[in-house]
Amino acid sequence: MKIIYLNGNIRRENSRTNELANYFLSLIKDFGQIKEINIMDDDPRPKNTDFFAENYQIQDKYYQYAKEVKDADLIILSCPFYDMGLPSLVHAFLENISLDGETFISKNNTFMPNIKAKKLIYITTRGDNIADNSLKDGATYYLRALGQLWGYQEVINLSYSGTDVNDLKTIMKRKNQAYQKAQEIVNNFLKE
Ligand SMILES: Cc1cc2nc3c(=O)[nH]c(=O)nc-3n(C[C@H](O)[C@H](O)[C@H](O)COP(=O)(O)O)c2cc1C
Repeated sequence: MKIIYLNGNIRRENSRTNELANYFLSLIKDFGQIKEINIMDDDPRPKNTDFFAENYQIQDKYYQYAKEVKDADLIILSCPFYDMGLPSLVHAFLENISLDGETFISKNNTFMPNIKAKKLIYITTRGDNIADNSLKDGATYYLRALGQLWGYQEVINLSYSGTDVNDLKTIMKRKNQAYQKAQEIVNNFLKE
């Protein structure tokens, strides 16, 4: 099984999301080959007016990343929750690898999904008490929409919330629940 891991944990080793993601990755290390793309190292730029210039060239590395995402059996995306959604750095990266002919194909005025993975695992932590898939969770909402373009059908949430507003005891309780959920996700995969 090919697994692509998109690491958008901006605070890197200081990140709580990074810690949760590393735990999850440790549980699935024997499932197959895990390829990590570090979004902070890539430091993607968002599309600006230059993108529409005649001589604009999409950088080869984004075709390469898009191919790796396209061929993966499972996509894992990990990043903190910012401003009710994905950090713009992560959004810019997804924008850069969302490429016609790779992650989707445009044909006869329609867009056909073109990736192999059926599931995306979205790992995050949120400062406020915001539940997965609630109206305030703009990130999962967007990732589900992106699945309609690329072709994965399910976003599996692995998260805990309230990291910045709760007392330490509550935070630890939520964190432990998330670690248990990580194990449940793995058990469910093993059953499939
Ligand atoms: C720029 C920025 C924007 C944030 N916006 C939100 C937000 O809209 N809602 C929220 O619940 N938490 C927000 N937070 C808090 C983070 O989601 C929270 O601290 C999270 O646990 C950070 O994860 P990390 O430890 O992996 O960096 C924000 C934090 C930063 C730095």
